[in-house]
Amino acid sequence: MTNSLSVIILAAGKGTRMQSAKPKVLQTLAGKPLLGHVLDTCNDLTVAKTIVVYGFGGDQVQSAMDTRYAHLPITWVAQTEQLGTGHAVKVTLDELPKEGQSLILYGDVPLVSCQTLTDLQAANTDGMSMLTLTVDNPFGLGRIKRDASGNIEAIVEQKDASATEQKIKEINSGIYCVDNALLHKYLPKLSNDNAQSEYYLTDIVKMAVADGIAIAAIEPEHTFEIEGVNNRQQLASLERTWQGKLVADLQEAGIQFADPARVDIRGTLSAGQDVFVDVGVVFEGDCTLGDNVYIEAGCVIKNANIGNACHIKPYCVIDRTEVGSGVDIGPFANLRPDTVLSDNSKVGNFVEIKKSVIGQGSKVNHLSYVGDAIVGTDANIGAGTITCNYDGVNKSQTIIKDKAFIGSNSSLVAPVTIGESAVVAAGSVITENVENKALALGRARQVQKPDFERPTKKSK
Ligand code: UD1
Ligand code: CA
Repeated sequence: MTNSLSVIILAAGKGTRMQSAKPKVLQTLAGKPLLGHVLDTCNDLTVAKTIVVYGFGGDQVQSAMDTRYAHLPITWVAQTEQLGTGHAVKVTLDELPKEGQSLILYGDVPLVSCQTLTDLQAANTDGMSMLTLTVDNPFGLGRIKRDASGNIEAIVEQKDASATEQKIKEINSGIYCVDNALLHKYLPKLSNDNAQSEYYLTDIVKMAVADGIAIAAIEPEHTFEIEGVNNRQQLASLERTWQGKLVADLQEAGIQFADPARVDIRGTLSAGQDVFVDVGVVFEGDCTLGDNVYIEAGCVIKNANIGNACHIKPYCVIDRTEVGSGVDIGPFANLRPDTVLSDNSKVGNFVEIKKSVIGQGSKVNHLSYVGDAIVGTDANIGAGTITCNYDGVNKSQTIIKDKAFIGSNSSLVAPVTIGESAVVAAGSVITENVENKALALGRARQVQKPDFERPTKKSK
């Protein structure tokens, strides 16, 4: 256990500038709460203990995270008054192991990478390492003071910095890896005798230097890894930066985006070769695309797997759906959860499908609702077909067997089975099972009155 790693995530800040009823760390980036990003990154490291320091909206934060991260036990520590970053870490001491090391992270700095944190931990050979960065505009941030030989001496906050110190361009990210023994030793000794009357975590650097500890500093690979979120503008700007990175990685893997700036990935996306994604497409949750998938403008695709050579026409919503190969969908199709579209099937415009299987080569091309249905292979569901799956209380199933043909504007009142190669006449209301190869007509017989005399206008 001596070298075990703990993580302390500071998340007590109120986030006043977000102008939100939600605690800041629950604001979402790429569809996931800011704090969720940090916890997911910790999940990829080998962490013995995860401590989150909460303040404002603690109940909301805990319930949101505990459901999402049930697999990752979080130790919650309250910081009732926000007296500074040093105080925030100090309140964890009762929970913090005496041995091992801690990464100190922030609930509102969502994008620090697992690799950077691994490197930071590796850099901590003498007790303390930190992430720093040299920037053009260091205003507002803590500056790294180094001695003549380049060794870190201290961190000085903007508000405490002299004119000379303000010229330093190497800034403190606020992210550190510190031996727990040092945290236990230094934090109780912090004072708030500074320009902001706060307990500065940064003061532990001076204390370590006084103890002869050499402080290591590394830089993150990407600037966005240390960027924090304080207002809506910063959140939106970090979102765009992150989307840019996700899209660039996917381009490297071979996906063609019509416009890399007009696609959003709120989860994970993996794709085969020669995939094309047009503008305005949103991917949510975990999605996979096969080879040669072609997705047109404005589609929302969520937790879906889409097979090779599928063509998704504009403005489709595809949610928790398994799509085989060579399937055509849309435009304007609404595929709801637990839908399976088998190979070479077709779903056309203004078709809603819910919790149904559409067999190989079957077609539902126009204006239909198919719910709780199992459709065999090579069946044709005519325009305007409705599976009446709900009687107001219970849901019932419709079974449509291979090669069945459902005429346009039919209502199939479930539970009902349409046999293999059976035909349902257009405009039917089908309430009884139809045998294989039968023709079912469930509509009024047409009446004809010959030589019908059309009314004429009455004269007054
Ligand atoms: C801190 C660093 C500064 C660094 C900067 C990077 C200190 C004293 N300064 O400054 O050197 O350049 O981060 O962004 O550490 N928090 C709590 N409880 C508190 C105070 C803060 O949980 O009592 C949390 C906040 O929610 C926030 C984070 O800690 O997520 C940083 O706090 P903030 O006051 O914004 O620190 P800075 O002044 O930016
Ligand atoms: Ca501050």
